Amino acid sequence: MSQSKFAAVVLAAGSGTRMKSALPKVMHSIAGRPMIAYPLEALTPLAPASTIVVVGPQMGDVARLVAPAESVVQDPPLGTGDAVRHAMRALDGRLAPRGAIEDVLVLYGDTPFLATETLSRLLTERRRTGAAVLVAGMRPAEPGTYGRFVLTPDGVLERIVEAADASPEEQSLVLVNGGIMVIEASRLDEFLDGLRRDNAKGEFYLTDIVAIARRKGLSCRAVELPAAELIGINTRAELAEAEALMQRRLRHAALDSGVTLVAPETVFFSADTQLDRDVIVEPNVTFGPGVTVGEGARICSFSYLEGAAIGPGARVGPFARLRPGAILEREVHVGNFVEVKASRLGVGAKANHLSYIGDSEVGARTNIGAGTITCNYDGFNKFRTVIGEGTFIGSNTALVAPVEVGAGAIVAAGSVITSDVPPDALSIARAQQIDKPGRAPDIRARLRRKT
Ligand code: UD1
Ligand code: MG
Repeated sequence: MSQSKFAAVVLAAGSGTRMKSALPKVMHSIAGRPMIAYPLEALTPLAPASTIVVVGPQMGDVARLVAPAESVVQDPPLGTGDAVRHAMRALDGRLAPRGAIEDVLVLYGDTPFLATETLSRLLTERRRTGAAVLVAGMRPAEPGTYGRFVLTPDGVLERIVEAADASPEEQSLVLVNGGIMVIEASRLDEFLDGLRRDNAKGEFYLTDIVAIARRKGLSCRAVELPAAELIGINTRAELAEAEALMQRRLRHAALDSGVTLVAPETVFFSADTQLDRDVIVEPNVTFGPGVTVGEGARICSFSYLEGAAIGPGARVGPFARLRPGAILEREVHVGNFVEVKASRLGVGAKANHLSYIGDSEVGARTNIGAGTITCNYDGFNKFRTVIGEGTFIGSNTALVAPVEVGAGAIVAAGSVITSDVPPDALSIARAQQIDKPGRAPDIRARLRRKT
């Protein structure tokens, strides 16, 4: 079945009061990615005819993030039903019978575990059954604040009662609203017109459209899905649980793809982390967004990586920090307490101890001695350091950018390099050593007299 004739509406305008945050709820991250990105990603393969994201006032960041999906502002947010009403105004003229859109799929921006196949199945199911409203339900361990499904004895969905409005008997119902609805597009406006705010929260609940459709004699159906897929995030505790769940999934995916995780539960991934075959990740490593690691590389304990591309056979850490723009080519070694930012290290280059390499180009096979610092910032501007191939930078060198060290050069330990070093030169830039033979006993004698 072609599913191109549906519109997707993603609700993200709620203030997220229970998060107690200055940040809109849907901008809180799970595995390094804002929550709202997940439902949108699940939708993409289904190619909706239109995707509308409903955002709240002052949520320009959300609108920018979801582009090219259209966004509409719901101001003030008066509930999920009111949010869908805003989306419908934007969809005006695109709906069947005049337009082509037959179904409206409503998702909540705080439900990050949805799978594309599930959405596809729900769309198919509504068309197959002819239900006016089809809702995904689940049986979580704790029904908590989820809306409760009220079913007839023969399993027809009669209405959804929100937890805040539920009687004690209704509270004890175990099949709850997972927050995905597929609605017959041509009838949705008339359902929304029937919404009232006479409830515990004083909001227009989208969930009331079920009872409204039933009063019109139309059929509504519930489809039960695994609770793990429908978890909604309303509090920081739920955010932490979702993070843990997502991390478990990402660890399994890494292991399944041929990566060794010595202690999986101590490794934290971002949703976009890419690890090739035979990568070994030691315990206690964090992958921030935008990291790729090539075949056979080893990431040693306590390393923190973000925005970095690590080549095959490279070795990183222990205790390394790779920041955005770090590019490590094949067989590069970056060791303990080394920070790399916006720099490319060529094939086989090594920086094994206590260094900062920022805004730099490091040639293949170059060895950066312990304690070397690229001084890339003068308090106002950033400058680049270029180090050629096969150079040897002695320990504790300060390379004051902009500066270039030619290929094959040797820089003596402790140098402060402020001007370019020619290729193959030996450069020494430090105070000259003075030796005074036999003076040590005199000094010791003088100091002893003082005590
Ligand atoms: C909602 C459902 C509940 C369901 C649960 C599933 C309603 C009334 N209740 O409750 O039955 O079990 O989700 O997770 O729909 N939003 C807007 N505009 C608003 C209010 C909310 O866009 O005016 C957005 C929020 O940003 C959020 C989503 O709608 O992404 C759901 O809102 P939320 O307040 O989280 O509803 P729940 O209490 O979780
Ligand atoms: Mg919610």
